[in-house]
Amino acid sequence: MPERKFSKQILCIGAGYVGGPTMAVIAAKCPQYKVTIVDINADKIGQWQSEKLPIYEPGLLEVVKQARGRNLFFSTEIEKNIEEADIIFVSVNTPTKTFGEGAGKSADLQYWEKTARTILRAAKSDKIIVEKSTLPVRTASAMERIVNSKENGIHFEVVSNPEFLAEGTAVADLEKPDRVLIGSRETESGRRARQEIVDIYANWVPRERIITSNIWSSELSKLVANAFLAQRISSINSISALCEKTEADVSEVAYAIGMDSRIGSKFLQASVGFGGSCFKKDILNLVYIAESYGLQEVADYWQNVIKINDYQENRFVRKMISVMFNTIAGKRIALFGFAFKADTGDTREAPAITVTRKLVDERARVIITDPQAIPNAKKDLQDILDQVEFEPDPYQAAQGTHAIAVMTEWKLYKTLDYRKIYAGMEKPAFVFDGRNILPHDELYQIGFNVYPIGKPSQSHI
Ligand code: NAD
Ligand code: UGA
Repeated sequence: MPERKFSKQILCIGAGYVGGPTMAVIAAKCPQYKVTIVDINADKIGQWQSEKLPIYEPGLLEVVKQARGRNLFFSTEIEKNIEEADIIFVSVNTPTKTFGEGAGKSADLQYWEKTARTILRAAKSDKIIVEKSTLPVRTASAMERIVNSKENGIHFEVVSNPEFLAEGTAVADLEKPDRVLIGSRETESGRRARQEIVDIYANWVPRERIITSNIWSSELSKLVANAFLAQRISSINSISALCEKTEADVSEVAYAIGMDSRIGSKFLQASVGFGGSCFKKDILNLVYIAESYGLQEVADYWQNVIKINDYQENRFVRKMISVMFNTIAGKRIALFGFAFKADTGDTREAPAITVTRKLVDERARVIITDPQAIPNAKKDLQDILDQVEFEPDPYQAAQGTHAIAVMTEWKLYKTLDYRKIYAGMEKPAFVFDGRNILPHDELYQIGFNVYPIGKPSQSHI
């Protein structure tokens, strides 16, 4: 056997928002391991090898550059790399199914299953397979059945290690996670495999933050964590509607309740609605799983978290229409931000998509500005490109508009010269702050009619 230069060979299948940053951080923290990331998308692999990464994530390029070519490699040669790996993380997409049984709710596991079959075909020695993607509880049992189906003497141990990073803070979340969760079968080989994954993270994560559990608890905890986070947003958003009727201020309510240490202050920021690739899909998946076990009341409970989110997006547009004299046909409206949150170019399930489509249905002309998300916004709106405009400069975007609607909490929108913006707008000029980030009193003094979320509006009309 030739001497191995690296103590472990780690492979990740899927070079997306999770696979890329997670493996880059493992490689940067553990120069003793060889970390390779493969993907079927050759363009994406090319971008990971370049100066312009396929995703925007603060601090990520520096981390990638620290390890790239040293112990971090990107490749499209999936089978060859499977053969060489000791540990295979699988981080492919698991979107909501759009067809057949469970359409609109259950997870589409076709990419997942293809990966399992590729591993089975290419592997020539024992491997640990790590579920990094978010999966329905009990997926590991299907994975085990597929990969251990050949009687070739090769043993695959399946371990669950869900990822809890949030986009926009991915590097910081990976470097200092609240916890790392690793679940396995409670067998001897299961516990041994689990320990191998613990050892990887123990290179930089304090041991008490690395928690282990049985494999089903681990799979389910990921879905439940997202459901609880989204539930907090829907809870505060539901209260924002009540605040608008009663002159209570949702930020003051959130502050007051968040001071109770049992409630806590995080994730109580009322907004136009939550977006992102996972909250909705993971809750729908939870709903589907509960229904499939005959737990209709449980399913209904979680379904309502999504219902409130849809309500919040719709309510935002209805408010725009009603205060702009019940017609926005022919009016120009600038959307400040299109990404589903700040510090990312990702627009998956962004509230801005729904808002844009509804405004266009009302025959408004929508001008979209965003520092990172315009390329993705163009893809999301490709069927209505003739009815929207894209303008990277927010001052230009607001020029000649009747209203500005803040969709994403980008810091730069807080400090623009709103006197200058006001001067270039049609009058009366409106601001709808879907993120409650602008200086509302100041905008009102300038002359704007200001409509925040869950706070009293300030109108000159
Ligand atoms: P993504 O779409 O950005 O990346 C998935 C990648 O997998 C794509 O590049 C795709 O080309 C590749 N892929 C698909 N099938 C493949 C195959 N057979 N072989 C090789 N590559 C293949 O998705 P993502 O946002 O990184 O999410 C991945 C998983 O992680 C999902 O299950 C998601 O729920 C979960 N997750 C995402 C986040 C997040 O913030 N985005 C956070 C935690 C967990
Ligand atoms: C979320 C979770 O926070 C991660 O832990 C998880 O790993 C990830 O989903 C996943 O599984 O994909 P992410 O969607 O990237 O991360 O971003 P969040 O910060 O959770 O924001 C989600 C949405 O909620 C955004 O649209 C954000 O603007 C909105 N939000 C968040 C609010 O409206 N109010 C808040 O108080 C917090």
